[in-house]
Amino acid sequence: MTVRYLLAASSVLVLLTTPVLALAQAHDASVANHRPHYYDAADFGISPDSVTFADHIAPILQRSCQNCHRPGGGGPMSLITYDQVRPWAPIIKYRTAIRDRMGAMPPFFAEKHIGITRFKDDYSLSDIELAMIQAWADNGAPRGNPDNEPPLLVFNEGNEWTIGKPDLILRSPDVSRPAVGPDWWGDIGLVPTGLTEDRYVQAIQVREINDIPSDTGTGTVGGRYIVHHMTYTSGTLSADGTEVVDNITSWPIHEVGRNADIFPEKAGRLLSANSALHLGATHMHSNGRETKGYVEFGIKFFPVGYKPEYGKRGPRTGNGIDIDVVPNKANQEFHNYVVLQEHTKIIAFEPHLHAPGVRMCIEAIWGHNQFTLSCVGYDHNWVKQYVFEDDAAPLLPKGTILHTIGFLDTTKANPNLADSRNWAGGGRRSVSNMFIDLGYSVELTEEQFQAEMAIRRANMKDRNDYDVGCPLCWAPESTDASIAQGND
Ligand code: HEC
Repeated sequence: MTVRYLLAASSVLVLLTTPVLALAQAHDASVANHRPHYYDAADFGISPDSVTFADHIAPILQRSCQNCHRPGGGGPMSLITYDQVRPWAPIIKYRTAIRDRMGAMPPFFAEKHIGITRFKDDYSLSDIELAMIQAWADNGAPRGNPDNEPPLLVFNEGNEWTIGKPDLILRSPDVSRPAVGPDWWGDIGLVPTGLTEDRYVQAIQVREINDIPSDTGTGTVGGRYIVHHMTYTSGTLSADGTEVVDNITSWPIHEVGRNADIFPEKAGRLLSANSALHLGATHMHSNGRETKGYVEFGIKFFPVGYKPEYGKRGPRTGNGIDIDVVPNKANQEFHNYVVLQEHTKIIAFEPHLHAPGVRMCIEAIWGHNQFTLSCVGYDHNWVKQYVFEDDAAPLLPKGTILHTIGFLDTTKANPNLADSRNWAGGGRRSVSNMFIDLGYSVELTEEQFQAEMAIRRANMKDRNDYDVGCPLCWAPESTDASIAQGND
């Protein structure tokens, strides 16, 4: 009895004396309960005082931060030289430890320990990198031997395209905003492509060119642009050239700060002969300075003659209409279920909520099994698409129920919220709400589905190995004969 009592008492003591050291994120989606991810460097075999800027921290900043934190980048300060970085050490420690919740740096909010965790262009930090940053900051942010610092990266100072030289550059009509004025939202017209044959797009990048001098300090990204976002489609022009009528393709939404979109090898998007872009919905925002500008579209094509292997896009999930956001309440959950009518490969997950959004998950329900495919944090200051690595992307059989879960917090603890007292429903404005996965999936034929699963099986060591995104990978294979006869 006594021993048990002592044990109990000592574990209480440990609980009381241990600082807030949360190894796993509190997943209840209440902003007030978010816990930074703090690690002990010793658990990774690192002696805390051996961590230096030159040897450990500078390479992390080069890979994950300097693309924004440099002159002309989107971040508010440069994190390039030791002298620039040092004063920020404690704040860097905190913002990186937030990891997958609003406010995290770098802004890539995928949860690391659940579902599929392999994404393209993932510049988030690993556990060991967080441990190093924390040890370094706690230890007074030592420089180490400057000779060991990696050479400074060279950035494109001009407005080069990140997709490389485009095959076609299109330009929107000129737009302008007064220094101060209400937001404007509407159709800014057609942009003929001039194509004389059908072409498939491999990559598209959209950027705003305006008359704000690049050396003007604005403090925020919002001060540099007028086009907040734009949804647009393309299609073949009508005989009189006044509307697009056929071969309608929708393109990823352009949003401030969005990277180029690179389409998968097997899923190029059609831009037809005699087509035009239709810039149907452009949201503009005054930025405190009278601004004139336009939007440019840089397009790279697949070679002439290319045909995409994947045809139709899969369903869009979520619910933008019947939503009921209660005031002043954490841990609100939205659920949406879609039954997949065809075999489906999910290429990208793009949670879209509005200011109350904290997190979104997608789950696959197949037979008795329920798999979490991915969970990511949400910060309404950022637009983030999470593109699965090709050999990790969910491969779901028809009949799977795709379950999307949105988590919201309308309490004062949520810094993105304008007012925690209002009820809100669905709508386009930021004070209204959305709950949609803007990601992207494709339907697969039986043959494509089997072929993709065969590749995944070959990647697994044995039948004890498990692929979260592939519920049927180890199911008995259909015989070629039954596929040929169309028996599912
Ligand atoms: C995609 C662009 C981008 C990347 C990548 C990025 N940042 Fe940021 N960072 C920003 C922007 C924009 C802000 C200002 C908004 C905010 O504070 O959230 C910011 C803010 C910060 C702040 C807070 C500054 C303050 O005034 O308190 C810190 C610290 C920071 N970033 C560190 C980092 C570190 C360290 C990395 C890499 C591990 C990183 N950032 C990666 C864009 C970026």
